[in-house]
Amino acid sequence: MYIRDNWYVAAWSSELAADVPLGRRILDEPIVMFRTAGGAVAIEDRCLHRGMPLSLGGRIENDGIQCPYHGMEFDGSGACRKIPGQEHIPAGARLRSFPLAERDGTLWIWPGDPDAADPAAIPAYPQHAADGYAFRKTMLTVHCNWEFLNDNLLDLTHLGYVHARTIGGDPDTHSTAVMNSEKTDRSVRVMRHLPASEPPPSYRLCCDFAGKVDRWQEIDWTPGLVRINNGGTDAGTGAYAGNRVGGVQFYGFHGITPETAESTHYFFSHARNFRVDDHALTEKLFSTTMITIEEDRVVLEAQAARRGETADRPLINMATDGPAIQARRIVRELIAHDR
Ligand code: FES
Ligand SMILES: [Fe+2]
Repeated sequence: MYIRDNWYVAAWSSELAADVPLGRRILDEPIVMFRTAGGAVAIEDRCLHRGMPLSLGGRIENDGIQCPYHGMEFDGSGACRKIPGQEHIPAGARLRSFPLAERDGTLWIWPGDPDAADPAAIPAYPQHAADGYAFRKTMLTVHCNWEFLNDNLLDLTHLGYVHARTIGGDPDTHSTAVMNSEKTDRSVRVMRHLPASEPPPSYRLCCDFAGKVDRWQEIDWTPGLVRINNGGTDAGTGAYAGNRVGGVQFYGFHGITPETAESTHYFFSHARNFRVDDHALTEKLFSTTMITIEEDRVVLEAQAARRGETADRPLINMATDGPAIQARRIVRELIAHDR
C-alpha cells in the first residue's frame, strides 16, 4: 500500500544524462525518465506496440523517445507521435505520464493524481544548492518495505547498538535522551538532546572537543523524505539555547521511495556547514557514513526477511517508539485519503 498523492525522489539529477533514458520502478510502476527541451519528463516504461521497456536502449531525439524494438516514438507527454511504416496514429495512442520536477539537483515524481500535484509542495533542500555547504550523495536499493526506513530514522536509539563504531556513542545515553516530538497531518518532527555525552568517532574526526559535548538530533519526517540535522558543541556552551558555534553540524537527506512492497530506493546525502572546501574531509565523512548506511541495510533486510516469515507473531512497542508510531498512523490516514 502506497501514498500516491505525494512527491517522491525519483532520481538524483546527475543520474539522468541528456541523451540516455533512465528506467526505474517506483511504487511498483515501471517508469522511464528522459530529458526534453522543456525539462525532464517521466512516462510509463512500456511501449504501446508490444510492451518493450523504452528504457532498455530507447533513443532520445527531438524531445522524444524511440522504442528500441520497432521504432515507435513518444513525446514527453507520453503521446505516440510516430509509427514506422504508417501515416495514421490512432486517437488515444498515449502512455501515462507523471508529473516530474527538478529541484536542488533532485528529480521529484508525483505518482498520484496529476491534477493534485503542486511543485511548490516539494521540500526545499538548500544544502544541495546553496554555497556554504559541502555534501556527497548516493543511492541504493534496500530490500525492505519503505516503512521500515521510516521506523529506523525516527528511532535513533539504535545508534548506540547498530552504529557503535561510527556515530554511536553510549547506548544508554541514546535510550534516555530527552526527546520531544510534534505531529502535523503529514509530518513528524523529533528533537533529541544528549547533553554532556561522549563525542562519537565521526565528530572527533572533524573537531578537537574540550571534553564532552552537548549533542542534538532533529528529525523532520514527511512521507518520502527524512531530514536529520545533528551535531554537537562543547558541553555547556549553549547548544540547546541555539548557540551552535564551533563543533560540528551535519545534515542528512534521506529520500525514501518505495520501489515495490518489499524494496525501497534510498537516496542519501550527507552535508555539513563547516570546512566546506576540505574535500578530503568530505570523502572521509562520506566513507564513514556509508559504513553506517551499510549497517542499517543489513539490519533492515534481516528484519524484513524475518518479519515476512513471522507475520502472524506479535511484536511489542518500547517507550521510544512514539514518533515512529505517529508516522505509521499518518501513512495509514494518507493512504485512506488517497482512495
Ligand atoms: S515494441 Fe515498441 S515499437 Fe514494437
Ligand atoms: Fe541507522
